[in-house]
Amino acid sequence: MAKNWNVHASGAARVLILGASGQLGRELERSFAGFGDVTAVSRETVDLTRGEELRALVRRVEPDFILNAAAYTAVDRAESEPEVAFAVNADASRILAEEALARDALLVHYSTDYVFDGTKPEAWTEKDAPHPLNVYGASKLAGERAVQDVGGRALIFRTSWVYGPKGKNFLFTMLRLARERDRLTIVDDQVGAPTTSIELARATRAILDGVVGGSFGAPSEWTGLYHMSCAGAVTWFGFAQAIFARSVELGVKAPELKAITTEEYPTPAKRPGNSVLANAKLHERFGVRLALWETALDDVFKALRAGDACV
Ligand SMILES: NC(=O)c1ccc[n+]([C@@H]2O[C@H](COP(=O)([O-])OP(=O)(O)OC[C@H]3O[C@@H](n4cnc5c(N)ncnc54)[C@H](OP(=O)(O)O)[C@@H]3O)[C@@H](O)[C@H]2O)c1
Repeated sequence: MAKNWNVHASGAARVLILGASGQLGRELERSFAGFGDVTAVSRETVDLTRGEELRALVRRVEPDFILNAAAYTAVDRAESEPEVAFAVNADASRILAEEALARDALLVHYSTDYVFDGTKPEAWTEKDAPHPLNVYGASKLAGERAVQDVGGRALIFRTSWVYGPKGKNFLFTMLRLARERDRLTIVDDQVGAPTTSIELARATRAILDGVVGGSFGAPSEWTGLYHMSCAGAVTWFGFAQAIFARSVELGVKAPELKAITTEEYPTPAKRPGNSVLANAKLHERFGVRLALWETALDDVFKALRAGDACV
């Protein structure tokens, strides 16, 4: 028997979204309109490094669902700020899991392909052993494990190469650089699946609709860790090519692109060579598939053309 999540007198499930100013948080807020009584908060409301304030917030909102889209996502900066990265990505995640457990709420938490070291030639499954190469990946892995250790009802969705119509991301970096330069050099030996905030929010809403509707059975049958990324795979170079095949629609001329290796583009944080995620478990359990990355890219361009953007 599925839990009746709509436990409040108003009849509406209470949803707390953290990271509302981020790429994913913004789309979740949009996607969950109509799902229930949504409270979406950003850093101004609560700084996740202040654990007790975070607890107090959850107790005040009394959510049935907590969607944690907040994270320390500055991969290179994390190398020099490990304490902050761990405070946000691991400690705050544990607090949310504890508070969710205390009130029998469902926690939806997001993690990253960067928990893997990139050495596997095929797509990574949920059964593969994580081995992060950088502080960001290690802090996100610690967050996953904290949520699992607490042992409440939680869905952990690992995703990759997130971008969307708003926020700091590879797409906007490419469009900005193309305005400034005629020629760009892009890494061509890291493979992943660019995944849009739009697809992630759509899939999360579809899954939670199913959870509320009792489609997936008891929580013990669906609680757990799932990979959730757009279908297909490409290198950063290939992704840039796809962006510039469409950028003229936005009045941005394609620059000349030159493929380089990771070695030729040193960064503070090491990155995995292959971080493509296998999404079979998500589809088998929830019947949900994210779009092919190129189709999802078309959708972002559509949103940008419609003015839903900050190019
Ligand atoms: N971006 C990627 O390429 C990528 C790849 C794989 C997985 N993921 C995962 O996907 C999820 C969503 O990522 P995203 O791309 O939407 O991230 P994002 O755009 O960087 O947004 C992160 C959000 O977290 C907030 N935040 C960070 N530190 C905070 C703090 N101390 N207190 C309160 N809020 C804080 C940010 O607030 P401010 O705006 O105020 O900083 C922002 O709203 C995360 O779990 C991330 O780890 C992302």
